[in-house]
Amino acid sequence: MQYERIRNTPLFHSAMRLVNRLAGRLNWKGSAELLYWRVKKLEEGKLAGDHFEPFFTTHFELGPADYQGKKVLDVGCGPRGSLEWASMAQERIGLDPLAKAYLKLGARHHQMRYVAGVAEALPFSDGYFDIVSSLNSLDHVDDLDAAISEIARVLKPGGYFLLISDIHDIPTLTEPSAFGWDILARFGPKFEVLKETHYEGHQLYKSIRKGIPFDHQNPTQRYGILTALLQKR
Ligand SMILES: C[S@@+](CC[C@H](N)C(=O)[O-])C[C@H]1O[C@@H](n2cnc3c(N)ncnc32)[C@H](O)[C@@H]1O
Repeated sequence: MQYERIRNTPLFHSAMRLVNRLAGRLNWKGSAELLYWRVKKLEEGKLAGDHFEPFFTTHFELGPADYQGKKVLDVGCGPRGSLEWASMAQERIGLDPLAKAYLKLGARHHQMRYVAGVAEALPFSDGYFDIVSSLNSLDHVDDLDAAISEIARVLKPGGYFLLISDIHDIPTLTEPSAFGWDILARFGPKFEVLKETHYEGHQLYKSIRKGIPFDHQNPTQRYGILTALLQKR
């Protein structure tokens, strides 16, 4: 309770911003992300990605036909082979600042292509992709507006953007971009929101599977999960 009070003060937010800036300079963030995946690999043996397909398809009422012959980009893809299931796509690319380290963790065996880079400066030409996704990665970027503007730039008109994200109000080392339920407004008039859902929980994929709708009447500060399908106009 005491902690809740402290973490909601402007001083705490400023201190977190300062810590994050320092951490950015020393790349603590990348080291922490990589350590997380190294530990996961020790725990699980292999970093499997079998759970991804429904989050790219049925969850958004999309099917394999929507991916047939398409160019697909997964931003902040992680090391699990998020697009391995999408063999019907013309191109399937996972972009991540840790892509090179992920290849060494096992991703080199995947069929999808990994590209090292950040969401804030996507190394692709305008309108290149039919589908762009960000699953559990938008709050990990350092400059949210730059990332959104880049996602809009590389998507074709009519293309889809699939978003699955934690919603939390406190920046952390690995999740420096804290944002609220109004995040979709930041995408502006370039996008139409086709589908949006809010869930209780903080274990992203497990909580979505549980499917408990977020209770916006409950004022307790807590993590929630937003999923959205947007279409570029
Ligand atoms: C929690 S992991 C999620 C990985 C994967 N999408 C999944 O759901 O398993 C967040 C990923 O975002 C990546 N990331 C961090 N900063 C980023 C940035 N500026 N642009 C793109 N990805 C970033 C991290 O390296 C990490 O792989």
